[in-house]
Amino acid sequence: MNQIIENILTRRSVRVFSEKDIAREDLEQILKAGLYAPSGMNRQTWQFTAIVNREKIQKLAKLIEVKLSRAGYNFYNPSVIVLVSNEKTSGWAKEDTACALENMFLAAHSLEIGSVWINQLKDICDEPEVRAYLNEVGVPEEHNVYGIAALGYAAKEPNQNVVKKGIVKIVE
Ligand SMILES: Cc1cc2nc3c(=O)[nH]c(=O)nc-3n(C[C@H](O)[C@H](O)[C@H](O)COP(=O)(O)O)c2cc1C
Repeated sequence: MNQIIENILTRRSVRVFSEKDIAREDLEQILKAGLYAPSGMNRQTWQFTAIVNREKIQKLAKLIEVKLSRAGYNFYNPSVIVLVSNEKTSGWAKEDTACALENMFLAAHSLEIGSVWINQLKDICDEPEVRAYLNEVGVPEEHNVYGIAALGYAAKEPNQNVVKKGIVKIVE
């Protein structure tokens, strides 16, 4: 099996991160992988906002905890979160986000950095306290955050995925 396929097949969502931080050059490579993802009509209307300050990350987690009544919410204690935002009017925002996030997850995995998709922000971006935070970190007012990558070193082996059977059909 080639290394690319092996990297795809062995990536798993990590939900317990250690205190070890990600080196800036590794983060930059992960973000670059996101930039090279496909986007609808190649518009690239997205923005990747990487928050590398643990206090600022937990400030956002606290807002989610309160807004969604999720006691103890902490994004699994990552070293970095990457907010993937896009124009609210874009017809491809969700698809673009998924492509960019998966590229980032795979790049992270190839560097032995764990990752997981965080979905909690997408429906509450325009709550005043959340929007104030997004303004503070420079997410454009006309953007919604469609997904977040939480990144860090795994502190626990991730769960193995059981791939469902009967999903692939090859028609001759
Ligand atoms: C659209 C989407 C939203 C997700 N949201 C979350 C989330 O909010 N929190 C979480 O822990 N995992 C989230 N995940 C991760 C999935 O639960 C995970 O990919 C799935 O269980 C398969 O496990 P694997 O990633 O280890 O293969 C999300 C995945 C996708 C594609």
